[in-house]
Amino acid sequence: MNDIDAVSHVAAPHAARADTVPSLLAEIEAIGADRLRGGYSRPVFSAAELELREWFIAHATKRGLDVEIDQVGTIRAWWHTPSRSTTGAVLTGSHLDSVPGGGAFDGPLGIASALVAVDLLRARGFVPEKPLVVAAFPEEEGSRFGVACLGSRLLTGAITPERALALRDNDGDTFAEVLTRNGFSPEFVGPDVDGVRAFDSFVELHVEQGRALVDHDAAVAIGSSILGHGRWRASIRGEGNHAGTTLMSDRRDPMVAAARAIQTIRDAARTTPDARATVGRLQPVPGGTNVIASRVDFWIDVRHPDDGVTAALVESIRNALALIAAEEGCEAELTEESFSATTHFDTALRGTLESLLPDAPVLDTGAGHDAGVLASLIPTAMLFVRNPTGISHSPEEYTTDLDAQLGAEKLADVLQGLLVA
Ligand code: GLV
Ligand code: MN
Ligand code: MN
Repeated sequence: MNDIDAVSHVAAPHAARADTVPSLLAEIEAIGADRLRGGYSRPVFSAAELELREWFIAHATKRGLDVEIDQVGTIRAWWHTPSRSTTGAVLTGSHLDSVPGGGAFDGPLGIASALVAVDLLRARGFVPEKPLVVAAFPEEEGSRFGVACLGSRLLTGAITPERALALRDNDGDTFAEVLTRNGFSPEFVGPDVDGVRAFDSFVELHVEQGRALVDHDAAVAIGSSILGHGRWRASIRGEGNHAGTTLMSDRRDPMVAAARAIQTIRDAARTTPDARATVGRLQPVPGGTNVIASRVDFWIDVRHPDDGVTAALVESIRNALALIAAEEGCEAELTEESFSATTHFDTALRGTLESLLPDAPVLDTGAGHDAGVLASLIPTAMLFVRNPTGISHSPEEYTTDLDAQLGAEKLADVLQGLLVA
């Protein structure tokens, strides 16, 4: 991260020592670094994510923002207007948690850019006529409790508190237990529809998770829509037994059924235009080299622009799974864990962004975001920053220092347009 000096137009509120997006990301580059998987593992309320929370709060406080933390751990840092009115606040920000072995930018780029956007606006002498709130949403990836965007789903009522609090992580701890351990009171967890509706809009800046901006030869894009997506848990039960003493003809091996099912899922998605289906996580029980598993759980992520096609594809997977399991002497179950319909961002807000950033291409995305969940209650929009590798949810995810800083400038341009009464 050293080409930032080349950005001659970076407005520096306090001369050369102003924070930049690359300098902020450099401060956290060791936090949650995963020596086993590569990249970063920062599950919600892990030591790494807690450290990132402290980092964010310290930077918000340093900027004189008023920090509040809600009952599920969403951090909101308020830049108040001179009148300190809270109406019509504009929300920006992203998340601090990561997938296992994820990249450095998915989430933190949006947080660092929002902090720098505040600096840039102040350096321009801009005084907001509406409050700006920089937010960090918890468990956006769902990598600890299984449901993506858990914080924003709870706030908007897209998941009941009962279901959310009962979700378990890999250690068997419930979300309620983890909240309690971190000083929260699960009895206060619940939707805050009026609180969300009180915001004027939400603009989330995010690293692009594909290569469209490379193809457009542009650094920043405006988001148009989020592909509908959901997660299902497949559970195949067979008979646990000894790897050496059980004849091949006597086995009821759920791992074999899972392997066949995974291939069938890939084939089903390949023959459904525009569909994506992924099995990225599989858990044999008990999981020993010399043990035929008694049960195999695996998770299927299915995405398609037409939610009806997603439903039909999942039904075909359900049928195939039952058939394959029966052929292997096993039993299968498929359970929906979360679903988000295809989201088209608010057209009026998008139009405003297009007029503020006339050169920015407009792109859809196959990735899920809190902006997609909050879109059910308030106008939301997204900005994407070029990722030369086009890779995400991987250590290969990347953005250049120049583009990262430019993204914050574009975010500042957008916020400046939105923060006038
Ligand atoms: C989150 O990044 C998702 O698309 O699942
Ligand atoms: Mn993200
Ligand atoms: Mn992600």
